[in-house]
Amino acid sequence: MRTTDAPHPQVASVEEFNAASPEYQTAVRKIVRSHAVNELYGAQVFDEPAIALAPTPYAKWLTCRVAMEEYGHHVRFRQLGEQIGVPEREMTPQGRRPLSVFDFPLETWEQFCVIKLIADLAEILQVEDLLHCTFHPLRNLARMTMPEERFHAQFGKDFCTELVKVPASRVKVQAAIDRYFPLMLGFFGKSDSANNALYRRCGIKQRTNAEMRADFIERCKTLVEQELGLKLPPAPAEAA
Ligand SMILES: [Fe+2]
Ligand SMILES: [Fe+2]
Repeated sequence: MRTTDAPHPQVASVEEFNAASPEYQTAVRKIVRSHAVNELYGAQVFDEPAIALAPTPYAKWLTCRVAMEEYGHHVRFRQLGEQIGVPEREMTPQGRRPLSVFDFPLETWEQFCVIKLIADLAEILQVEDLLHCTFHPLRNLARMTMPEERFHAQFGKDFCTELVKVPASRVKVQAAIDRYFPLMLGFFGKSDSANNALYRRCGIKQRTNAEMRADFIERCKTLVEQELGLKLPPAPAEAA
């Protein structure tokens, strides 16, 4: 373990990664594995089934694009994982348990649009943090995926903006926000997470889980209350 508070040196390539400390290698493998698993699981349980729920050919076309890109994120993270020695099975939902935020069935188009609005905003926050990480292949991957994650969040916002104009679907969008927003707070991990401390020590992440969660709550508030004119449910006290 490094004992100084000096920033972790940059790691420009897989070759340099192989020469880095065991702690650094563990940290990078963990985060790449987590992205590989969760991108795949999200695509399987939300994005691909949403194609069947999309109400028009136009919505199906855009949903296909979202699903294609989410599978693509898995493929890219998995390729990087293979290069840095993460066992293949550990990069699938069968080999590693995905995040609990995915543990609920997708039933309606409105729910999917809210998931893109809120869950992809959470993903943007995570990827933003990786844009400056010390492991350059991971940083480059974050830069490649960022425009696509922004498109997914915009997709959610655009469709939700249309849905809230119709009273019946407005009620469904609000219900989905009430359901998913509290669940998403868990996505950022525990405030005293040992993994987060490890990531920050290694210069892979910049912010604490609590800082990211607070930022997420603020950004959701603007999006849901100011832009959509709906109500954001209160964050549970221990998560806020
Ligand atoms: Fe993604
Ligand atoms: Fe996404």
